[in-house]
Amino acid sequence: MINRLIRIFMIGIIALGMVTAQPLEYVGSQKCKSCHKSKKKGSQYKVWEASSHAKAFQTLMSDEALAIAKDRNLKLPPSESPECLECHTVGFGKGGYEVMDAAFWNADPEDKAAKKAIKRMNGLKNVGCEMCHGAGGAYKKKKIMQGIYAGELKAEDYGLVIITPEETCLKCHNDRSPSFKSFNYKERVAEISHPFPAGM
Ligand code: HEC
Ligand code: HEC
Ligand code: HEC
Ligand code: HEC
Repeated sequence: MINRLIRIFMIGIIALGMVTAQPLEYVGSQKCKSCHKSKKKGSQYKVWEASSHAKAFQTLMSDEALAIAKDRNLKLPPSESPECLECHTVGFGKGGYEVMDAAFWNADPEDKAAKKAIKRMNGLKNVGCEMCHGAGGAYKKKKIMQGIYAGELKAEDYGLVIITPEETCLKCHNDRSPSFKSFNYKERVAEISHPFPAGM
């Protein structure tokens, strides 16, 4: 009897593990925009949009990027090379940005599901919000965001990452980057800062 209960308990734990171990969904920066653009709350979206992180995909089309690709004998253009997309898009190879063919991008505008997929994929270009804050699929709901902010829910349980220089910035700002020079967290984080206004 006890053994049976333990077995049922163990199966329950494993099943729960399987549910929670599902990869979190990357939703794209445009999904954060509606709630994080107002000046009253610190204009996070606009600050990000004006930063070079929001142009990182475009950068892969530049002459400089093409020169790097040539130098490294890449077979594909930088904007299609995994060697570059890893740090210039959101969640590449992890359920985020993917290289899609013309049929995907030129889908019938009447096809609502295809339109939605295109919008999401565009939102996954560049170093978007989720590359620092974590995949937003689970935490982007208003009630959950408020719960986390109020300290009633644990950020980690919903995929919202606690930012550290090592795990957040240094995964891209390191010497695997062809243009890497150096990285001083304190100085660099001040350049991208987008806090809530004091007293909010
Ligand atoms: C997913 C990779 C990635 C992560 C994570 C990342 N960065 Fe970046 N960062 C980039 C890329 C790529 C650029 C260059 C964008 C361009 O010029 O197109 C950049 C540029 C910058 C710049 C701009 C310099 C300038 O003058 O234009 C600053 C500052 C910066 N990052 C700070 C940070 C900080 C601080 C963190 C961590 C909180 C961080 N980055 C996390 C990839 C990343
Ligand atoms: C390990 C992460 C990483 C990889 C891989 C990566 N980049 Fe970057 N890239 C960065 C970061 C971080 C910056 C911002 C430079 C800085 O401020 O340190 C950057 C900046 C750039 C810039 C702007 C140069 C400048 O001086 O601001 C170009 C162009 C570029 N990358 C092209 C490429 C190309 C082409 C590839 C593929 C061959 C590539 N990157 C692969 C992280 C990466
Ligand atoms: C439906 C609205 C909504 C959406 C969508 C949304 N947020 Fe939020 N977010 C909030 C609210 C509400 C708060 C709590 C602060 C406040 O009252 O504005 C918050 C707080 C945060 C915080 C601070 C958490 C803390 O405890 O310090 C971060 C970081 C954040 N959001 C990032 C994001 C990112 C990244 C996305 C997109 C993937 C996103 N949010 C999407 C409404 C939203
Ligand atoms: C390059 C990394 C990076 C990107 C990209 C980024 N953030 Fe942040 N964000 C940070 C850091 C660092 C903080 C400082 C707080 C912390 O350490 O968690 C922060 C803080 C916040 C806060 C909380 C502010 C506060 O005062 O508590 C919100 C809300 C937020 N970000 C939303 C966004 C949204 C929305 C986007 C995209 C439009 C975005 N962030 C893009 C790194 C980033």
